[in-house]
Amino acid sequence: MKVRKAVLPVAGWGTRFLPATKSMPKEMFPLIDKPIVQFIVEELLSVGIDNIIFVTGRHKRAIEDHFDFNPDLENHLQQAGKENLLEDLKNLSALINPIYVRQKTQKGLGHAVSVAETVVGNEPFVVALGDVVLEKPEENMKKLLGIFEEFKGSVIALTEVPPDQVSKYGVAKVKKLKGDVLIVEDLVEKPKPEEAPSNLAIVGRYLFTPSIFPCISETTPGKGGEIQLTDAIRLLLREEKVYAFKIEGKAYDTGNPLDYLKTLISFALRREDIGRDLREFIKTL
Ligand code: G1P
Repeated sequence: MKVRKAVLPVAGWGTRFLPATKSMPKEMFPLIDKPIVQFIVEELLSVGIDNIIFVTGRHKRAIEDHFDFNPDLENHLQQAGKENLLEDLKNLSALINPIYVRQKTQKGLGHAVSVAETVVGNEPFVVALGDVVLEKPEENMKKLLGIFEEFKGSVIALTEVPPDQVSKYGVAKVKKLKGDVLIVEDLVEKPKPEEAPSNLAIVGRYLFTPSIFPCISETTPGKGGEIQLTDAIRLLLREEKVYAFKIEGKAYDTGNPLDYLKTLISFALRREDIGRDLREFIKTL
């Protein structure tokens, strides 16, 4: 069955970035001139997934506006002769079919995904988190879909992190299956380094069969008192095989101020228009 839908949880408070996130969604923070959430949407569009279900909340209006047409701005760009900018803006809004559902109370990532159940229905779907932006988005999304097509089960994307960083992520215990495809044996959400089964962290790209939904309903509050998606996947493991793979390229974290800044600088240094000047400036510091 073709994967047509993706769920993007964007309801979080962004407390690690307060006061910047008081009225501004953290997903709208820019990596230079493009908001983080747009990178995730473009990643999904690159593999033909255009039905994008945003699990949103109060104070997230800016995200809805970002993916809508903006006739005033479009007129302005037209009159100013800024055709390229105009094209880019209009294309994005035309390509995406956004669906917004509200997570009325914030009970964790697992709960956020369950809010999309009625819209997803009985079909496989992708979950993509804005906390991480991938260096090779299309390649990794293709891999996620390819493993699903071959093995017909849920798939999670992993990346190696330094052992002292595991407590920031969901961590997987895996075995080799075939080629670079792994099979998941167990998962732990944000373990202490000494309790981690490996240093393979969940990067926030998942493909689920609809069987995940009853598992989320069964999941009791875990780390931080929240309904954790990682715990729901553990329950799924009792019934179905769950596959995994190590992503190609880097995973850039945007979920906390220091990592966001490192990501921002990495992206800026790679830009043709500003990279060289920025590098020179950094040397003078
Ligand atoms: C969430 C997931 C975690 C995953 C991480 C990736 O955590 O719960 O398993 O490794 O995203 O960014 P959060 O960063 O929302 O606390």
